[in-house]
Parts: sequence; structure tokens; C-alpha cells
Amino acid sequence: MNTSEVLSAKAVDLFYGETPAVLNADISLGRGDIVAITGQSGSGKSSLLYCLAGVLPAARGEICFEGRSFSSLNDEELSAIRRERFGFVFQYGELLPELTVEENAALPLRLAGQRKSEALTAAGEVLGRLGLAELRQRRPSQVSGGQSQRVAVARALVHRPAIVFADEPTGSLDSGNAAAVLDEFLSLARSQGTAVVLVTHDTQVAARADHRYIMCDGVLTAQVREAS
Ligand SMILES: Nc1ncnc2c1ncn2[C@@H]1O[C@H](COP(=O)(O)OP(=O)(O)O)[C@@H](O)[C@H]1O
Ligand SMILES: [Mg+2]
Repeated sequence: MNTSEVLSAKAVDLFYGETPAVLNADISLGRGDIVAITGQSGSGKSSLLYCLAGVLPAARGEICFEGRSFSSLNDEELSAIRRERFGFVFQYGELLPELTVEENAALPLRLAGQRKSEALTAAGEVLGRLGLAELRQRRPSQVSGGQSQRVAVARALVHRPAIVFADEPTGSLDSGNAAAVLDEFLSLARSQGTAVVLVTHDTQVAARADHRYIMCDGVLTAQVREAS
């Protein structure tokens, strides 16, 4: 294994019943890499993302996290990796409405067994870096769309995961807000060495990544950066 490689997928297929959604996908992610996957709606981006994250099982091929193949792990080991080493951001934030902003952001630490006071302190630091210190005690219904995506970003990064999987993380925001949230997300990820797999149909968003792939009808292709 290349020691700087954090995730690798080789020849991955995913089907829904008889219908293929991902065909023969190869991808490799170095530590701290920011990788974007673009493509039209229905091309298989989300399906691939959830395969790479160990959420959907691949029908064929091999996915390794830090050199360990998902197929060699039992359910408990795989869910521990998802919970402790991965973070997730979705299109609409998907915050828990009953919890405050800081409790939402602290969730991964609480799930890992950290004491509430320590988890809230760590969450407060990340929220502060995203300009949300003043909103800590609010409920998700009391913050704007851009603010709730920032809370979702805080929750994805608070436990310093190896990889954040982000599925259209700015897809619910207007373009100005999307660019600002994405900048903050990627710079925070870079500052803590967290790799990001960023799924988006927005090529402007993808342009901020270190490496780009395009998905078309289930087929993933690496894009070579144009010489400038
Ligand atoms: N749960 C599912 N059951 C059956 N087909 C699905 C399911 N989820 C997605 N698909 C199909 O798989 C293909 C890829 O979908 P998806 O991965 O969601 O694409 P994207 O994220 O690029 O929009 C599409 O044809 C979609 O209709
Ligand atoms: Mg999708």
C-alpha cells in the first residue's frame, strides 16, 4: 500500500436490482486530498459516494480504507469506521431539529463516547472557525440555510475524520452563499488534513478540488488538469 493513500477503490460495480448505477470505478484518495466528482443528475455520483463510504455494498471490486478492505471487515468494524473516521455532509444539512446548533455539531464526539462538556467545547471551537459562535444555542429552525450548512460542515469535521464525504453540500444554497460555505469547508478540511470527496453537479464548485473526476452513465473518468 502507498502509505499516503487513505482510500482506494478498484473495479467497483453497484447495481439496483438489475440496473447498473456504477460500472468498473477506480479511484484513489491521498491523505488530505480534495477530490471532486461531477456529472449530470442520475449519472451515479451519489451511488458511488455511498459505496466509497461503506454505506452501500459494492457488487464487485474492492474498496480499501487505510489498507483494509471493506470486505474483510464485519458490520461492527465498518460502522465504527463510518462513525469515527468518516464525516458526512448532505445537501440540506440534515440537522436534528430537537438539538441545538452546538449539540448537532458535537454529535460525532458524543457518539464516540466523549463527555458532553468536552464535546461541546470542541464543537464550539469548530463553530467559531465557521463564524457561528453566537448561534451555538439556537435550534436549526432558527438559523439560515447557509448557517445550517456550516453547522453540517462543523459536525462533519469536529471529530477530525480521515475523510469527509459530501453529497452536493452546497446544492441548496444560492451561488454566493455556496462559494463562501465551500471555501470555509475546504479550508477547514485542509487545515486539519481531512480528505474530502465532493460530489457536485456544479463545475465551479469542482474547480476548487485538487483532483477531478467526471461521472457519466455510471462510468467514472479522471479529468486531467489543463496546462496553463
Ligand atoms: N435506491 C435506488 N433504487 C433504484 N435505483 C436507484 C436508487 N438510487 C438511485 N437509483 C438510480 O441509479 C442511478 C444513479 O443515481 P444516483 O447515484 O442518485 O445519481 P446522481 O447522484 O448522479 O444523481 C439513476 O439512474 C437512479 O435513478
Ligand atoms: Mg446524487
